[in-house]
Amino acid sequence: MAVKRIGILTGGGDAPGLNAVIRAVVKSAFNAGITCLGIEDSFDGLLETDRSRELTPRDVTGILRLGGTILGTINTGDPSAGLVATSEGPRVYSERVVEIFHRMGLDALVVIGGDGTLGIAHHFGKAGIPIVGVPKTIDNDIVGTVNCFGFDTAVSFATDAIDRLHTTAEAHRRILVVEVMGRDAGWIALWAGVAGGADAILIPEIPFDICLVAERLKERDKWGAKFSIVVAAEGAFPKGGSQSLIEAAHDAQLERLGGIGAKVCEALARETGKQTRSVVLGHLQRGGAPTSFDRVLATRFGAQAVEFIRRGQFGVMVASAPPDIVGRPLEEIVGKTKTVPLDSDLLLTARALGVTFGD
Ligand code: F6P
Repeated sequence: MAVKRIGILTGGGDAPGLNAVIRAVVKSAFNAGITCLGIEDSFDGLLETDRSRELTPRDVTGILRLGGTILGTINTGDPSAGLVATSEGPRVYSERVVEIFHRMGLDALVVIGGDGTLGIAHHFGKAGIPIVGVPKTIDNDIVGTVNCFGFDTAVSFATDAIDRLHTTAEAHRRILVVEVMGRDAGWIALWAGVAGGADAILIPEIPFDICLVAERLKERDKWGAKFSIVVAAEGAFPKGGSQSLIEAAHDAQLERLGGIGAKVCEALARETGKQTRSVVLGHLQRGGAPTSFDRVLATRFGAQAVEFIRRGQFGVMVASAPPDIVGRPLEEIVGKTKTVPLDSDLLLTARALGVTFGD
């Protein structure tokens, strides 16, 4: 069956490059004679028939360089099992989504999201919606793809922040602790830490001992480098301890991580006797214009998603396998996390340069 009409939605936390994917999907679909419907606020936009709009190339002109998503997104876990209020009374969420998908005459759905959203998409794929997934996360922790768009932008921003902190750290001979995002994987901390010349990098994959971190920083003092930069992923935690939470998980909301930077800052002041300060980069890492790398990757993902749809290849996620963009079965990637391998080249390179991971 020739595909004539597709939907596109964005789910989970936003990442620079979402709009670039939307633009690429809309333009490639249009040029292939396929109508594209933009669905608002992730799968919630498929609870009613009036929460979507047709997107033409005119509608996506100029959005390539914009952060955020013109479709809106939500980040509230997996709602697909429960009941939901609709204009036609309470309905089972997942049944309603499938019903509205068919009522709107859609043939396929492009879902741009992280592990959680792709897991929900996989569920709807099994319920009869032809799905093509596009991986998105600044954390770069989706398995099966070497890169996710948004990661490069986040790393560039964090590196710039570390550069700025370096000068003030050196001027005051202080230890500056920078908390970056990275829930279960330390990719942003590792890359930005190496790019910014950090002296300690704390990641969720390696529980740290603060005394070992302090020892290494005190050694720097001895040979004359009287300032230090520590980069901590928000998901990093001490040996025998647990992740630092701002808010525990509740209802469909995931737990909110944060605060490890401040704790490390306090502990290092105690252990080293030096002045310390901490900074949380937080959602600044998710905002702003995507880098050229992320724009290109997002554009390639979007075009390839439409290509898979044209070939009738569903239940797949587009993925970066340099130099190619390939398809990976959704069932092979959902529910998994791509963490930093402890023998990865970049981690070993950092160690070789004397960077401590607190182990
Ligand atoms: O998944 C990406 C991410 O940036 C995580 O590193 C972070 O824990 C989470 O998003 C925060 O998302 P939000 O504040 O939107 O719930």
